[in-house]
Amino acid sequence: MADRPLDTLNRPDAALEQTLRPSAFDDFTGQPKVKERLEIAVEAAQRRKEALDHILLSGPPGLGKTTIANILAKAMGGNLKATSGPTIEKASDLAGLLTNLEEGDVLFIDEIHRLQKTVEEYLYPAMEDFRLDIIIDQGPNARSVRLTLPRFTLIGATTRSGLLSSPMLTRFGIRERLDYYSAEQIQKIVLRAGRLLKVPVDDAGAMEIARRSRGTPRIAGNLLRRVRDYAEVRADGRITVELADRALGILEIDENGLDEMDKRILETVIVKFGGGPVGVNSLAVAVGEEPDTIEEVHEPFLIMEGYLNRTPQGRVATDRSYRKLGLKPLAGGQGKFL
Ligand SMILES: Nc1ncnc2c1ncn2[C@@H]1O[C@H](COP(=O)(O)OP(=O)(O)OP(=O)(O)O)[C@@H](O)[C@H]1O
Ligand SMILES: [Mg+2]
Repeated sequence: MADRPLDTLNRPDAALEQTLRPSAFDDFTGQPKVKERLEIAVEAAQRRKEALDHILLSGPPGLGKTTIANILAKAMGGNLKATSGPTIEKASDLAGLLTNLEEGDVLFIDEIHRLQKTVEEYLYPAMEDFRLDIIIDQGPNARSVRLTLPRFTLIGATTRSGLLSSPMLTRFGIRERLDYYSAEQIQKIVLRAGRLLKVPVDDAGAMEIARRSRGTPRIAGNLLRRVRDYAEVRADGRITVELADRALGILEIDENGLDEMDKRILETVIVKFGGGPVGVNSLAVAVGEEPDTIEEVHEPFLIMEGYLNRTPQGRVATDRSYRKLGLKPLAGGQGKFL
């Protein structure tokens, strides 16, 4: 226990998440358009015997960005070297990573929006011309050396594409944004996870978990494991709709999958701003979150589920969000409620 790595201590499910991760597009449910475009890019690159273009994957946490990067590396038959924006502190860290790549390898940079500016600038010629100009020595002896890099593919992942500089954005030939999954797609993912984990879960039980997973495969996997615990300890291990409902009730998982921040946003729009319209900056200050995070991580789900509307004047609460909070909008009076 004492020498378990910190990551698995904080996230005991990390290893399990690994086993549930689809390793080929055939096992990957949902995101049909993204999948098709990427499959075409892979096949075209393979036919031409070229490296895949650089790819940027964006979208809220837990929707499959890391999973897709792994699938792409495997499909191209290259190795995947993974790192993340904040761990590349100096240009020399980047040089070390790049010079260790082989032809056709994938360099995966997670949280690419957190790369330092100076590091970013070294990355541009590497991405564009597969070369790296590094300065060696200091003072009067300092000189620049040009290294030629193997053809590699950079896959960047970010939850906050709005924070990427435009020179960075435009250097990705392929940019894909992942969106929330439908309940039916998540249901499929839960059933597949059930088979892999050898948990007996029926269609309706899987749908109950799916409905409450916020359109997010990672949450679905976590809920499935918590419901499995309950099923094994309090019942006969089988997951039916009644059992899933009871287990998720005990875990205080919202009926519609909303998380704490989602609810805080709705409550703020309704109670503090009279139902809206409210601009994202005022909303962000009121809930104590970054405007970009609201726009890129929370809002898309609330809009997709019909809790929030986006108008040119700002965000407006819908009838559904009043009902969610147990309030009744008063007819004719924007923002009045009982
Ligand atoms: N389409 C899918 N089908 C089946 N399982 C999936 C799918 N997408 C994601 N998962 C599961 O959800 C988990 C989280 O996915 P992943 O780590 O790829 O998300 P991410 O977008 O990289 O998240 P983050 O932004 O937090 O890094 C994976 O371990 C995988 O098991
Ligand atoms: Mg990831």
